[in-house]
Amino acid sequence: MEFNIMVIPGDGIGPEVTQEAVKVLHSVERRYGHQFNLTYDDIGGCAIDKYGTPIRKETLNKALTVNAILFGAAGGPKWDHPEAKMHPEDGILALRKGLGLFANLRPVKTSDHLVDSTVLKPEVIKNVDILVIRELTGGLYFAKPKRRYSTRHGLSAVDTLRYNEHEIERLVRVGLELAKGRRKKVTSVDKANVLESSRLWRQVATRISKEYPDIEMDHLYADACAAQLIQNPRKFDVIVAENMFGDILTDEAAVLAASMGMLPSASLADIPIVGKQALGLYEPIHGSAPDIAGKKIANPLASILSAALMLRYSLGLTEEAVAIEHAVETVLSAGLRTTDISKDDESPLNTSDMGDQVAKQV
Ligand code: IPM
Ligand code: MN
Repeated sequence: MEFNIMVIPGDGIGPEVTQEAVKVLHSVERRYGHQFNLTYDDIGGCAIDKYGTPIRKETLNKALTVNAILFGAAGGPKWDHPEAKMHPEDGILALRKGLGLFANLRPVKTSDHLVDSTVLKPEVIKNVDILVIRELTGGLYFAKPKRRYSTRHGLSAVDTLRYNEHEIERLVRVGLELAKGRRKKVTSVDKANVLESSRLWRQVATRISKEYPDIEMDHLYADACAAQLIQNPRKFDVIVAENMFGDILTDEAAVLAASMGMLPSASLADIPIVGKQALGLYEPIHGSAPDIAGKKIANPLASILSAALMLRYSLGLTEEAVAIEHAVETVLSAGLRTTDISKDDESPLNTSDMGDQVAKQV
């Protein structure tokens, strides 16, 4: 089959890891006889440098016409000064918002082959299988007012944490629907002891969950959830959380999976139905990692696994998605590692060699 895919490598290690995901996609094309028509575009600091804006209107319009988008990362110290008028991150935020991709699926699975490669105890993190669903187009990231202003006492700045019932309901629904095919448990994260937006979140989540008698829902404060995630991660199945809580908790959850370089994500505009095609944006959760950019040591597995999610959720190619995920497991079982997941006595592969190894296994 033929598909149109937009590839947006972005900044920092974005281009390095995305290149490896593309390599693996080419290997899927060869093995299964598909055709992926790739068009490249720029978002982030690279777009600011080239076009004077973190995302062009053309990019957004084009994104609406393709089957899926594979994104790398945005941001870096070059564009990072506090007075800067434009922020690379605004490019990816505008793309998420512009496409209405409110549900950000972040699967957190520990590989058997990596349980010894983390700072946590193997018996605690073995068989962890969590699906975090982060709200992606609301809350502190987008609600207005959001600005800086002068007062008699100096500068002030404000970000707004606002959610309406509809935004909460549709996100929680994605969690409840996806829990059906899993262990049937949803943990809703909030700070309902302090925040009014969280009280509404909890109220709506509780109401919607009544429509799903087979699914168990519990509620955890975000701070307690952060503690539970490393103390007893196996207790979690599906987690639903507002934008900022989800952002923070998934970086923490990445520690369970041995590295941020391991976690993919899928951003969708509706409840995903496996095998059915719907536009989605696929990106590793790790960001641009400027400290290691250009060193050829970045772990491409999060990007490669994001490509697998793209095949599953946007292209309807389930078997091919599983083939990529198996290829990654095979490579890990053979002891092949990038720096971030290797132990002192192992000699790590560079980014491109890791990509070659996965591509070869597909
Ligand atoms: C992520 C990143 C982004 C976010 C940044 C780069 C805007 O941290 O995808 O988790 O905060 O959403
Ligand atoms: Mn993040």
